[in-house]
Amino acid sequence: MKNVITIDGPSGSGKGTISKMVAKKLGYSYLDTGALYRAVAWKARKLGISSDNDEALKKITENIRLEFNGEKIFADGIDISSSIRTAEIGELSSQVSSRPAVRAGLFSLQREICLRGKVVIEGRDAGTAIIPETENKFYLDASVEERARRRYEELKLNDPGLTIDNTIDDIKKRDRRDSTRETSPLVRTDDMTYIDSTEMTREEVVNAIINNLK
Ligand code: DC
Repeated sequence: MKNVITIDGPSGSGKGTISKMVAKKLGYSYLDTGALYRAVAWKARKLGISSDNDEALKKITENIRLEFNGEKIFADGIDISSSIRTAEIGELSSQVSSRPAVRAGLFSLQREICLRGKVVIEGRDAGTAIIPETENKFYLDASVEERARRRYEELKLNDPGLTIDNTIDDIKKRDRRDSTRETSPLVRTDDMTYIDSTEMTREEVVNAIINNLK
């Protein structure tokens, strides 16, 4: 299979921006899987459900109505596109994403979207768990400092209390959790093309991906 492009990597590696640009350039659709975990975290927070309540999280994952409309994501009819882009929801989504019931609940949705057509899918386990049969797998990385800088620039308007130091701490904590959890951790495998974007422009990263497509 070649018509699904998976882009995995840690928080702040630029997966979102790059995946959107690649999809646009190739005329593919784009799936941001982190937004699905963020949506579950958003609903858990709204209902006051703690991130270790597996039974309640399972229900939320099964019943949440998720819709995508270009740049926007809706949960149960509510536009949550900007409310899920906060440091708090970032941390909560990392916590709920380590629960097997949540991962299992979101698996089929992601896989079905990939099997429907030409898709750029970005996340932590796209190339290892969601669509391992694709030949076009990438791992996008950058230094912790650069990733924190990008996250900080993205979040500071929404989160006036944020500092660069607590963004670095948050990123390190999430890296550890996302790569050490038992179910589908973030891993880099030999069949992924590795790109370190620390000193690259967006255009250079997009070209590196397109030039490496099979
Ligand atoms: O990419 P992001 O920061 O929007 O993702 C939010 C959290 O969701 C991240 O900390 C880990 C989790 N996640 C995941 O476990 N699997 C994915 N495929 C995508 C995100």
